[in-house]
Amino acid sequence: MEKLRKDGLEAIQACTNLSELGNVRNEYLSKKGLVSQLMLQMKDLPAEEKPAFGSKVNELKQSLENAFKLKEQELEDLKLNEQLKLGKIDITLPSSLPRVGTLHPLTVVQTEIEQFFIGMGYLVEEGPEVELDYYNFERANIPQNHPARDMQDTFYINMEWLLRTHTTAIQTRTLEAYKGEVPIKVICPGKVYRKDDDDATHSHQFVQMEGLVVGERISMSDLKGTLEKLAKHMFGDARVIRFRPSYFQFTEPSVEVDVSCHICNGKGCPTCKHTGWIEILGAGMVHPNVLRMAGFDPEKVSGFAFGLGVERVALLKYGIDDIRQFYTNDLRFLSTFRRFE
Ligand code: PHE
Repeated sequence: MEKLRKDGLEAIQACTNLSELGNVRNEYLSKKGLVSQLMLQMKDLPAEEKPAFGSKVNELKQSLENAFKLKEQELEDLKLNEQLKLGKIDITLPSSLPRVGTLHPLTVVQTEIEQFFIGMGYLVEEGPEVELDYYNFERANIPQNHPARDMQDTFYINMEWLLRTHTTAIQTRTLEAYKGEVPIKVICPGKVYRKDDDDATHSHQFVQMEGLVVGERISMSDLKGTLEKLAKHMFGDARVIRFRPSYFQFTEPSVEVDVSCHICNGKGCPTCKHTGWIEILGAGMVHPNVLRMAGFDPEKVSGFAFGLGVERVALLKYGIDDIRQFYTNDLRFLSTFRRFE
């Protein structure tokens, strides 16, 4: 009996996993196991020895049971720890971040310009992209059959409707909406369309921003001061501007506005084609006819207007060499603008 106990306890201790332990338990404690066989020997004993023998066997059985339980717990803990080790998560690994979108560079520039003008008390006005010939041309002092229409090749929907060719259409609508009341200070952003062939510097669709100020004694120097502030805001404090005479039907006088080159500071470089100046917009004093048609008295009020190409500003500001980059939605290009938001 003592040998059985010793062997049993040793066998239990030697187990390294639960299935081995199960085998040992079968060998010792199952119905036909070694302990049961020991019990069978009882019938050959004299009656007076039976109780003592029986209780000894029971005690042996109990101590083996206890040893099994302890070992079982130990092996279960071991197994659990191993599983935990296997399933361990390395929280120091960098996770893969989801791709986050960015504002489009044209939106960034448009917003920046809008914010600049909002800061000076301007309102933002919008208008329809499918526009009446009337607001796009006639109200801009470009009557039907006038040769000036050639300056802007147009997508016509029919004789009356077209895709607006310039944000000056928003200007003429705004003038009408104010019904002769001044002051007017608006900035009008929007997509415009021209029947141009697309290349590195042309697009059949682009974004313009019209500026319009009408009030008493608004002069050309108000225009110049405003645009110079804008140039400094967009291209740096060292920028200055110059006016060159130009022609638009809806402004008189009309000017082309150049900004001193922000790359070479006016010394001359490839960006400014070695002139030191970069043309950024057209502008002028609102033509008396345009004011009159919208119900203003050009003897009493005057105004200035300008039209700026958002792509052009963005190309210059970020040193981009192909306008088509803005429309092809290549994420490698777009994601570089995250830093400007
Ligand atoms: N509408 C002109 C263009 O598209 C720009 C402009 C606007 C010029 C306002 C003068 C005044 O070319």
